[in-house]
Amino acid sequence: MTLQELVLQQEQKLTHEKISFGQGTTNATDEAVWLVLWKLGLPLDTDINSHTDILSSQQIQSVEKIIDERVFSRLPAAYLTQEAWLQGVSFYVDPRCIIPRSLIAEVLAEGAIDPWLVTEQPRVLDLCTGNGSLAILCALAWPQAEVTGIDLSVEALQVAAINCERHQLHDRIELIVSDGLDQAQGLYDVIVCNPPYVNQSSMQALPPEFKAEPELALAGGEDGMNFIRQLLTDVALYLSTEGVLILEIGNEHDHFQNAFPNAYPIWLSTSAGDQQVLLMTRDMLQTL
Ligand SMILES: C[S@@+](CC[C@H](N)C(=O)[O-])C[C@H]1O[C@@H](n2cnc3c(N)ncnc32)[C@H](O)[C@@H]1O
Repeated sequence: MTLQELVLQQEQKLTHEKISFGQGTTNATDEAVWLVLWKLGLPLDTDINSHTDILSSQQIQSVEKIIDERVFSRLPAAYLTQEAWLQGVSFYVDPRCIIPRSLIAEVLAEGAIDPWLVTEQPRVLDLCTGNGSLAILCALAWPQAEVTGIDLSVEALQVAAINCERHQLHDRIELIVSDGLDQAQGLYDVIVCNPPYVNQSSMQALPPEFKAEPELALAGGEDGMNFIRQLLTDVALYLSTEGVLILEIGNEHDHFQNAFPNAYPIWLSTSAGDQQVLLMTRDMLQTL
């Protein structure tokens, strides 16, 4: 059996077993390619079509084992490989933290926040940093930035620390345990925040893969706005005069508008649409 045939076989198994995606890949093909290449120790950008070697039965069995584990445990693939990728950057992950997939990473990569920066040495806060991915992407995007990551979960911050070490950014990123902004030492020029925002009925409908992630990272209360309500009350006090908040709200646009009818944010386009990530200046937040 060739690599291409093995990938196709495992893709069919994932499709047949109705596996859920959305935590690193969006479909059975990409998930099968990822797990097969990872298990065989091949680079993740291997062209499977030009790899014509016949695989050994040992290689095939090892792949079947990991795909079976994925199917029967319904754990996200990234928890099995202990690695996730965001904007081409690799992150260590385990069940202490959510798997990196924030849309804010796209906004950072596209430079959409850059025009709002008034200094080359911005003070940046990644509120709800979890695995540390956004704090790290901020530090990479703005080499002179002073970056802080905050999270309520000590366990998630342990993972963030591993990632800071992995990217040799432990000297530039400070990690703080804090309930929201309680321990924040403002003022910040940029606050990025991918908070828990999933509403209660969506939480109940989550597939097992997502239920394997920490509930603290996802659940935003009845309308998904519990954390965001407090944040929008407090955050202006932690922003510099020209400071901006970049906030992800996922699919909760209607709940956001109901909760904040006087908010007129700037929406930043992402691959998921135009109403998932917003930008608010300090002035906008003060007039809420
Ligand atoms: C959606 S995850 C985002 C993780 C990471 N920033 C990312 O984008 O992959 C939300 C994070 O918020 C943290 N969190 C939940 N409630 C919090 C609170 N009251 N204060 C600070 N962090 C909180 C969770 O522990 C979790 O790590």
